[in-house]
Amino acid sequence: MMAGFLQNAWYMAGWAHEVADVPLTRRIFDRRVVLYRMEDGGIAALEDRCPHRFAPLSLGTRAGDTLVCGYHGLAFDAAGACVHNPFAARIPAAARVTAWRAEERDGIVWLWGGQPDEADPARIPDFGIVADAPGRKVLRGHTMIMAPYEFCTDNLMDLSHIEYVHKGTLAGDGVIFAGQHSVQEDGEMLHSNWWMPGVTAPIPVRQRFAPGALTDHWLDMRWHAPASMRLDIGATYPGAPRDAGFDIGGQAHIVTPQTATTSHYFTANARSHDVDSPQVDAMLTDLFARAFEEEDRPMIEAAYANLEGRDFWEAGPLSTGVDSGGTRARRRITALLNAEARSVTVDRLG
Ligand code: FES
Ligand SMILES: [Fe+2]
Repeated sequence: MMAGFLQNAWYMAGWAHEVADVPLTRRIFDRRVVLYRMEDGGIAALEDRCPHRFAPLSLGTRAGDTLVCGYHGLAFDAAGACVHNPFAARIPAAARVTAWRAEERDGIVWLWGGQPDEADPARIPDFGIVADAPGRKVLRGHTMIMAPYEFCTDNLMDLSHIEYVHKGTLAGDGVIFAGQHSVQEDGEMLHSNWWMPGVTAPIPVRQRFAPGALTDHWLDMRWHAPASMRLDIGATYPGAPRDAGFDIGGQAHIVTPQTATTSHYFTANARSHDVDSPQVDAMLTDLFARAFEEEDRPMIEAAYANLEGRDFWEAGPLSTGVDSGGTRARRRITALLNAEARSVTVDRLG
């Protein structure tokens, strides 16, 4: 039902605060989805196309937990069934739209790409570090990238680009060169971690360390399919345990395919310092806009465009070693897609 995309995965559809009574339309895994909040706070996710004359249901109105098509008034419930036809008592059996299972966790709305009854909410990746909590300020964003989601994964799982792409923002005096990089497989997750022992304290927490102090600094990126990544950033005195230092904050970098060649890029940054400071909010908002929208985005888009439609692997990418996180994520996606294709064949044969 979603050619080219994983079915059995949770996809971020948006931030929880974006989904309200008023229908929100968004293209996700190349389907037009309409999202709205039901009276009990739950979220409905339906195909945004009425089966009658194909009007977008997002142009309709709400009646209780149903969505009423704005063209001729057919009403659909959260399971996608037509439950009211204003012109006849009989409702045609074909009057239904696709419904996806939607769950809200950590301020994020997730959609299950497969059959609703096969969705397992226990497999939703944990993004508790960017959920609202006392003593924490979270800044959230959403932008579009004109490249397939795997190219965004390559970018995020290989932070060696920081010293080059982010010269104007996040580059850290060359500390990444002092780092040890490792990629680990861990069940459904991949970890692409940088460990930088004995480096100058990172700027956001420099005042918390003694002047001129060196620190052990970490940048830990965790990946879940299809492209939901969490970055944990911190620093501690050399040799001290991590929890004796400062967790600089958590970031979410969650990429959801919009189409086969375009991606939603959702970002969040959580901090536990200066939580009531509008100046710090403004400074960070500007910093991340420049870093993600003016530095990462043009490079990712230009690199993808430069393939001129050729397949990534057929173009023969070189390996630098530190890029192995993105490579493993790509291989993992391919293996999962192949497994799904095989299971469909088995279902059909059985
Ligand atoms: S197009 Fe929706 S009711 Fe006619
Ligand atoms: Fe970047």
